[in-house]
Amino acid sequence: ALVVGRRVKSRKKWNRVVGVLKELEESCETTVGRLRQVVDAMAVEMHAGLASEGGSKLKMLLTFVDNLPSGSEKGIFYALDLGGTNFRVLRVELGGQRSDLDPDVEQQPIPEQLMTGRSEDLFDFIASSLYRFVEKGNDSVQSPVTKELGFTFSFPVKQTSVSSGVLIKWTKAFAINDMVGKEVAGALQQALTRKGLNMRVAVLQVNDTVGTIALGRYHDEDTVAAVIIGTGTNACYWERTDAIIKCQGLVTTSGSMVVNMEWGNFWSSHLPRTSYDIELDAESPNPNDQGFEKMISGMYLGDIVRRVILRMSEESDIFGPVSFRLYMPFALRTPVMAAMHEDDSPELMEVARILKDVLDIPDIPLKARKLVVKICDVVTRRAARLAAAGIVGILKKIGRDGSGGITGGRSRSDVKMRRTAVAVEGSLYTQYTMFREYLHEALNEILGEDIARHVVINVTEDGSGTGASLLAASHSSSGTVDNI
Ligand code: GLC
Repeated sequence: ALVVGRRVKSRKKWNRVVGVLKELEESCETTVGRLRQVVDAMAVEMHAGLASEGGSKLKMLLTFVDNLPSGSEKGIFYALDLGGTNFRVLRVELGGQRSDLDPDVEQQPIPEQLMTGRSEDLFDFIASSLYRFVEKGNDSVQSPVTKELGFTFSFPVKQTSVSSGVLIKWTKAFAINDMVGKEVAGALQQALTRKGLNMRVAVLQVNDTVGTIALGRYHDEDTVAAVIIGTGTNACYWERTDAIIKCQGLVTTSGSMVVNMEWGNFWSSHLPRTSYDIELDAESPNPNDQGFEKMISGMYLGDIVRRVILRMSEESDIFGPVSFRLYMPFALRTPVMAAMHEDDSPELMEVARILKDVLDIPDIPLKARKLVVKICDVVTRRAARLAAAGIVGILKKIGRDGSGGITGGRSRSDVKMRRTAVAVEGSLYTQYTMFREYLHEALNEILGEDIARHVVINVTEDGSGTGASLLAASHSSSGTVDNI
């Protein structure tokens, strides 16, 4: 009787855990129908964000980048990437034809005292490094031909033209007070001039996605959008200026401009939200902000999984006594979670190792290890499918989702769909096979295979560096560039 009693008890425990899993699966559900609602909501919010300042949670920021590389650029171009505690200088040589790019790159730490000192000192230091970099390379410092530079500056900036913008505030480890409210590219330009370096800041590029679309377009002329899915997530795309209602009278030679969506902040009641998302948001430093990002990007996925395991552990003892590590925010990072998800050993030995080493949960039965893999799967699948819906939302906004009214009353499959490319960067897409596969699968489901065949995802690498040097080329004053 004792044995039977124990079995009943253990079955009850198991049922409770299965109940938690079921609830998770239900609240993470992303049927095609629901994804299509997200697609529509994304397109609607894009319209709203373009109509007026503050018209949507999507900021739809103007970048003033009205020209993307065509592949025909020729010459040596530079980029400076300043964002964290290091900065990078890059040089790329373009031969007038699309080819693999092989930039020279140098990285240097920024001396700590310069991060909180005077802006002149910081920019003089950067100008000196650039000078040395030019000197060392296959290019002459003395040359009378002005060198063109793309400047990636990853801080909040109010962009005023393609090559100028005003610093709103410093973030990360920087606090140079005399710089706030000042023109960023101008400050760098002055330092370059002081140094006697004949170099022009051709482009101030504030967002990494903009470099990604430039790099994407360089390699593939059908590129219309770029998406980053890494620690954070965001997208930008090529928009007609007459669709940017909030900026009436905006004229560009190409008739278009790159718009930085800041889609991480997208929100819609159609998003499948769980109690774990709500807790994660409430405990985050930016509650009610970046809702889409919190369901998709690498910063958060591992933490959602941790929260589910914690809940199961509290409901039953299938994970043994509740490990204190489960209470630590971000104790389970996304790459580690991905490693569990992709453990294909029959005994799930990698899952066992990670649970023990990372979460201090030793010796759990295979059945419980399988459960952990299932949780990772549910969370990642939802993320990837939502990212896919976001991408289709952009395609819909620009009439590239195949639903187009262009051909009139024909059936979906008859619509002549133009080849459409999207550049994608970020570790979730490039390093996490399951994520990538779920994303592709969802694109197929939402668009239908006939349409999806015409949509190409291209992986790019280092938009914020190489992409910036390409933007310097496409915005260079020498005018070797074809407008698109
Ligand atoms: C975050 C930032 C956004 C950036 C993205 C990808 O969402 O807000 O500007 O593009 O991360 O790095």
